Amino acid sequence: MNLQELLHKDELTRDEIIYLLHLTDKEDLQQLYARADEVRAQYCGDEVHLRGIIEISNFCEQNCVYCGLRQDNNSLPRYRMTPEEVIETARIITNLGIFTIVLQSGEDNHFDTDIISYIIYQIRQQSNAAITLSLGERTFDEYRAWKIAGADRYLLKHETANANLYESYHLKQKLSERVDHLKFLKSIGYQIGSGNLIGLPMQTSEDLADDILLCKELDLDMAAFGPFIPSPNTPYQHKLSGEAELTLKVTAIARLVLKKVHIPATTALDTIDPIGRERGLTAGANIVMPDLTPFPYREQYQIYPGKRGSQDDPLESTARLQKRIEALGRKISYKRGDSLKLDLQQPL
Ligand code: 5AD
Ligand code: SF4
Repeated sequence: MNLQELLHKDELTRDEIIYLLHLTDKEDLQQLYARADEVRAQYCGDEVHLRGIIEISNFCEQNCVYCGLRQDNNSLPRYRMTPEEVIETARIITNLGIFTIVLQSGEDNHFDTDIISYIIYQIRQQSNAAITLSLGERTFDEYRAWKIAGADRYLLKHETANANLYESYHLKQKLSERVDHLKFLKSIGYQIGSGNLIGLPMQTSEDLADDILLCKELDLDMAAFGPFIPSPNTPYQHKLSGEAELTLKVTAIARLVLKKVHIPATTALDTIDPIGRERGLTAGANIVMPDLTPFPYREQYQIYPGKRGSQDDPLESTARLQKRIEALGRKISYKRGDSLKLDLQQPL
C-alpha cells in the first residue's frame, strides 16, 4: 500500500499509526498534514472555534513530576481569583464574542462544590456561553452538582495511555481511575475532552499510538495534543522538550483516526514553535484556546516556562491570535462550537 492509500483508509490499525509516526521525509509529512487538513474540512468545516480560558487558581494538591504547578514547587507564588473576578472575566470573554468559557485550575479543593456551582450559575445567568470545567480529578458528586448548575463540558487529559508511565509520572494516581472519571463524566451528559503530553521521558511511538487509540475508545468530543516542555523546580526540569514535528504528526494522525472531534492547536505547540498555531491549524486542528486570565495571575500560571502570551495583555494577545487565524484564510466562529457528536449525547 502506498502512502496515499494508507492516508485514505477509513480505519488505521495500531501498526499503521506507528508507521505514520515514524515518517520523516518532508514530502511524506506534507502529504500527511494535507490529508489531515482535508479530513478536518470534511468533518468540521473551515470555522475555527475559540475557547476563552480563565485560570482561576494555580494551587494544586497533585505532584505530577512534569508540571510547574505541582504542590511541592515552593518557588511558585500561588493565587486564587475571587468568584467575582472570575464572573467578571467571563463577562469580558462573552463581550468579545467568544462563547465558550473554560474554568481551569490545578486540583484545588478550596474551590469546592458550592463555590464552583455559584460561579457556573452566575455565568449561566449572564450569557448562553458553553461552560467547560478543567479542574482536575474531583468527586463524582461534584461532577454531578456542577452539571446540574449548568456546566456543559469537562476537560481531563489522560496524559499517557501507558499505565506504567502514568504511575511513574503521577505518584498518587492511576490511569484506570482517570479513564473511569472520563467515562462517568460522559455518562452524565458532559461533552468530554482529553489528550496527552508528547515527548515525555521514556515515552515511545507505541505509547503515542495507544494515546490516539484511547481517545478513540473514549469517544471524545475534544482531544488535545501538546508537547512536554521541561519546567524549572520540577523533577523533570533537565529533561528534553517534546518536539514540534512529533506533536504535529500526532495531531494529524489523530485527525485521521478521530474524524469528528474538536482538536486544538495548542499554546504549548505555539510556545516551542513560532508558527505552532498555524502549523497545527493546517495539520488537522480546528480550535484555539486564548488565555484571558487577567494580570497579575496569567504570569503565575506557570505549568511550563515561557508560555506564549502569558506576558501580554489578554485582549491584545487574543486579537493577535484572531488575526493569525484569519491570515490562514480560516473563519472564526462566534458560536458555542458544541460537540460535533452532540446528537449522540445522553441527557443527565
Ligand atoms: N509541559 C507541557 N504541558 C504540561 N502540562 C503539565 N505540565 C506540562 C509541561 N511541563 C499540561 C498537562 C496537564 C495540563 C495542566 O498542562 O497535560 O493536563
Ligand atoms: Fe496539578 Fe494538573 Fe499540574 Fe498535575 S498537571 S500538578 S494535576 S495542575
